[in-house]
This record gives sequence, structure tokens and C-alpha cells, in this order.
Amino acid sequence: MSSSPLTCLVIGTGGREHALARALSLDPGVAAVHAAPGNPGIAAVATLHDVDPLSGESVADLAESLGADLVVVGPEAPLVAGVADVVRARGIAVFGPSGAAAQLEGSKAFAKEVMEAAGVPTAAAMVCTTPVEVQAALDAYGPPYVVKDDGLAAGKGVVVTTDRDAAVEHAAQCERVVIEEFLDGPEVSLFALTDGTTVYPLQPAQDFKRIFDGDEGANTGGMGAYTPLPWAPEGLVEEVLRDVLQPTVDEMARRGTPFSGLLYAGLALTSRGVRVVEFNARFGDPETQPLMALLDSPLSPLLMGSATGTLASVPAPTWKPGAAVAVVMASAGYPESSSKGDVIRGLPDAEALEGVHVIHAGTAMVERATVTAGGRVLAVVGTGGSLGEAREAAYDGVSCIEFEGAQHRTDIAAKAAAGEA
Ligand code: AMP
Ligand code: GLY
Repeated sequence: MSSSPLTCLVIGTGGREHALARALSLDPGVAAVHAAPGNPGIAAVATLHDVDPLSGESVADLAESLGADLVVVGPEAPLVAGVADVVRARGIAVFGPSGAAAQLEGSKAFAKEVMEAAGVPTAAAMVCTTPVEVQAALDAYGPPYVVKDDGLAAGKGVVVTTDRDAAVEHAAQCERVVIEEFLDGPEVSLFALTDGTTVYPLQPAQDFKRIFDGDEGANTGGMGAYTPLPWAPEGLVEEVLRDVLQPTVDEMARRGTPFSGLLYAGLALTSRGVRVVEFNARFGDPETQPLMALLDSPLSPLLMGSATGTLASVPAPTWKPGAAVAVVMASAGYPESSSKGDVIRGLPDAEALEGVHVIHAGTAMVERATVTAGGRVLAVVGTGGSLGEAREAAYDGVSCIEFEGAQHRTDIAAKAAAGEA
């Protein structure tokens, strides 16, 4: 591996990309961080460029013009569109799977097929394309019904309900649906870096998907996250590496579509054991925010090793002691809609607090004011010696920040911090 400092280009606009760009900017092995299209938070740690993230040629042109050593493709849409393939074909190292491998996220039916072939434990499921098949699948599994749009749906394609009519209605709106057995038990996000052969799991994290406290209300992209999980069963990471991550990576290689980048396993710890709820082909958002806050290893060698098939020669990631908690602040109307242009106040006060930093997602600069520009606006990340301290720091930060219609959950990591999870 080259030891001269790297020029990195991060593709995307969200909180995940801000957290990754920030970690790269703090890495002594990185000379320059560029991002495109980026956001005002990313602008503080990287040089921004304009690009259509879905155009592989445009991304590759930009990477060439910058002399980028490593391109990091953050979101799923460009990955599924094959952006990483185009960049890789130009001879530039790229962190992120090929379009073919990103089908692990792009098609739930494909993911099920791979899991079956690899013997990976997941919910039993049927792929349905007709109303008759839908009715039969709903009968087979019974309530609560789990109905998933087969394709990419930005976190909005899944309906979990005891209302049969609602289940049927959601299925009718999708061309192809996956209907599956309901999984009970707490959810864990376990991410792994891989170059297609070697697999390095990260520390487990937990995401809060529902909009309201107590896991009430609609599903969102994620309203907060924390790491580590003091309540996780001993040996969880080893078990998931052995039974889920490594077999999936091996199966993808066997098929001739090796998966490199970040394999995101969304898991349910059910009474019958660990089950995969979903795979994603990229870092999770907001879980990446607390994970990057605690990563002790420099990030660039891990990403570069994943991108170039040399991960085995990079030391496995190590973690700072303590905990990190991210609390998302969302704009008015989220998740059904979002509000743009509301002035955000108090960011410098939050950032001035010990153990607090703010990660931007849906923000924009208008006449030197930072304003809302999306559903999930920002995440306040707190770190501390314990989950309780990290939580307190994050919420101290949240209390400094104001914008019209701001919403946040007040119970992120609360149960875990209280030893009740
Ligand atoms: P997915 O996009 O597949 O992760 O689904 C979004 C959310 O729906 C998950 O995070 C779970 O909270 C829930 N979910 C998905 N599949 C199941 C299942 N089989 N049983 C229970 N809940 C599920
Ligand atoms: N936090 C959920 C996701 O990134 O898909």
C-alpha cells in the first residue's frame, strides 16, 4: 500500500457522508478531502464540487481532475446505478460495491436468494407479483404482516402492520413485493468492511427507526443511534461474522460478483436466534455518526484496503473506550414531507460544548445563514465515558439548536443507558 498521503473524494450529501469526510479529514494519512455534491457541514472539512452523483462518468471525470487516490461512494442509489464500476474502470480505487453486488440492497428478493444459498438465517419470505400470491403469503405468515417493496425505496418501502387491508394496499402499490414472517426482538445494526474476501466487523450500533418516542409512529430513515451496545449478548459479533457476514461475502464471490465496501447487516435478535432483517450496501445513516466518533483507527487505510483487495494487510479497526450517541433533528412534516428554508440557530453554541459535534444532512446556506433543506436536518453527536454521559452531551447540544418545527426523539439510547434494554 502507498504510504504517501491520500487525496479522497466522498460522493453524497448526507450525514453519513459528513461523518466519513470528517473522519478522513482527521486522518494523518489523508492530504486532502473533496466531496460532491456535499452540504454546508461537509464544506467545513472538505472542498466541495458540483456533480451528478448518479452519473458514473461525471464522478470519474471529477475524480481524475482532482487526482483522487480514493473515491468513497456514500449512498445506495449511485452504487446500485453502477457508479463504482465506472470509477474502478478508470483505474481509480473506489470504496463501494459494483452495481451487481449492490443488488444485495437494490433487490430484497435477490438478497433473500443469496442468503438462502449461503445458509444465512433470515425471515422466511415469499416473492409475490399478483394479488393471489399476496393473499396466499399473508395467509401463510399471519399477522403482524411484513410487506416490502422489492426495489430501493429510501426506507419507505416497508410496511409492518396488523391491519390486513393496509398490508394488501401496500402490496398493490408495488410491482414486486417480498412478504415475510414477522421477526420479534431488538434490532442491531452490524456493519462490516470487506474487500470481497477479508471481513472486518465494526462495533454494533442501534438505530431508532420510528419518528416518535417509544418507537411510535411512522418509519423514518433513522432518528438517532448509539454505539456500543452494553446489552448485546457476548459473542454476538463473532456469531454474526461466522453465520452472516463471511458466508454472504463468500457467496457473492462464488457468484462472480464479489462484494467490496461496507456490508450493512440489519439484524433482529429473536427468541430463536439472530436473523437478518435486511442488507444494505453502504454505511448506515445515522449509525455511521456515532461509529466514526469512536473509531480509533485511521479510516483511510481501512477504506483503501477494502477498495483494493488488500484489507488483510490493514490492522482490524480499533475503538475508543466510552460511547457515542447521535440524536437527529428533523424538519417540520418529516417523514411524510419536509420543510425547507427554516433558519437554524445555535450551531456554534452546540459545537462549543465538550464532547459534542454536529453532523449536517439536510442543510443549506442562504445568505450566510444555515437553513433546513431536507427531512433529516442534522445529527448532534455526543461522546462520553459512558452511554449516559454521551447521551447527556448529545441532548445538551440539541438544546442549543433551534429551528421552526424542529422534531427530535427524547429517548435515544435511554433504555440502554439505564440498563433496561
Ligand atoms: P428494512 O428496510 O427491510 O430494514 O425494513 C425497515 C424496518 O421494518 C426494519 O428496520 C424493521 O424495524 C421492520 N422490519 C422489516 N422486516 C421485518 C420483519 N420481518 N419483522 C419485523 N420487523 C421488520
Ligand atoms: N439507518 C438505516 C439505514 O441507513 O438504512
